[in-house]
Amino acid sequence: MSKQRILVTGAAGFMGSHLVDALVDDGYEVHGVDDMSGGFWRNVNPRSHFTELDLRRKEATKQYVDQVKPQMLFHLAADATEGRSQFTPLTCTERNLMAYLHTLIPAIRHGLRKVVLTSSMSVYGAQTPPFDEDMPTQPEDIYGVSKAAMEEVTHILSQVHGYAYTIVRPHNVYGTRQNIGDPYRNVIGIFINSLLNDKNFYIYGDGEQRRSFTYIDDFTPYMVRAGLDPCCDGQVINIGPCDEVTINHLAELVLSLFYEGQEIPQHIRPQYLPPRPMEVRDAYCTDDKARRLLGYHTTIDLQEGVRRMIAWAKELGPQKPCYMDDLELTTEDTPVTWTKKLI
Ligand SMILES: NC(=O)c1ccc[n+]([C@@H]2O[C@H](COP(=O)([O-])OP(=O)(O)OC[C@H]3O[C@@H](n4cnc5c(N)ncnc54)[C@H](O)[C@@H]3O)[C@@H](O)[C@H]2O)c1
Repeated sequence: MSKQRILVTGAAGFMGSHLVDALVDDGYEVHGVDDMSGGFWRNVNPRSHFTELDLRRKEATKQYVDQVKPQMLFHLAADATEGRSQFTPLTCTERNLMAYLHTLIPAIRHGLRKVVLTSSMSVYGAQTPPFDEDMPTQPEDIYGVSKAAMEEVTHILSQVHGYAYTIVRPHNVYGTRQNIGDPYRNVIGIFINSLLNDKNFYIYGDGEQRRSFTYIDDFTPYMVRAGLDPCCDGQVINIGPCDEVTINHLAELVLSLFYEGQEIPQHIRPQYLPPRPMEVRDAYCTDDKARRLLGYHTTIDLQEGVRRMIAWAKELGPQKPCYMDDLELTTEDTPVTWTKKLI
């Protein structure tokens, strides 16, 4: 029997590259695509078929998908800079909704059987956590709007064109291979990279906002299962633990583990800045459905996960933060960390 042909978008990125590795190890024919805007060549699995391509290029994407003819699509490519999306709404929409449609439409034409869409808990917006999958989508920011639209598109086109789908809503996944040089997202990566650069880090708001975090090894196997187990067809599933922590607690943990066995230098103390516009205060989800459908459970707690990420980042070394040349919109509320390149 021939192996199933799977296309993974965002394959050189953090979560996409771990997913490709798992699928290759399971014996699938894996095609990966990424434009390297946030991905790295070092993440590309040499046993996959990799193509560098910007999925915003409609014709080129059509030609690529026409060649691959995927039976299954895991879509992870995105501009995932949620906090920045209010200042880059065009980039966010083009890299999320439009790039997805450019990929999905030719894939449907070639008989796509299943798509797994990587959405986000940003679709829940400012509702009262813990969020569960029966809540309506009420995004508060442009990134959440794009993800909610991608979910709707997936559902509607599936009804008309007959492919199966699963929508996965991860929460703050972190770990090895994450882009720690991105000054706009990945709070743990930003903290660690600041310390590697012997710089202070910044906290938006009072630091009492609550989030839950998932180590990558506790995410990838469930993403694979969400794609391959038919019991997940037509389902929306949160993937992440319910145990939430404050950003202040996280900052203390990163500091203590980064300088384990040493004094924390005097000049390294988190600094507080105004909250970012439209950032929701508390965001964490229930995991009941993931437990029921996927047998979800975590094996790596926050302390162990952060320790592993720090060890990996110290090997990698300090990264130069990579800023966007021009934001599409700015106001006096644009975080000063970005306008003054403080990170
Ligand atoms: N990491 C998290 O905490 C988290 C949480 C919720 C949802 N997600 C979602 O999971 C997915 C993966 O996130 P990640 O953390 O691995 O981010 P990532 O930035 O490491 O991966 C995204 C990849 O998409 C690529 N990409 C962006 N625009 C592209 C385009 N136009 N054409 C081709 N490739 C393009 C980037 O180069 C990058 O490698 C994203 O869809 C993100 O929205 C992530």
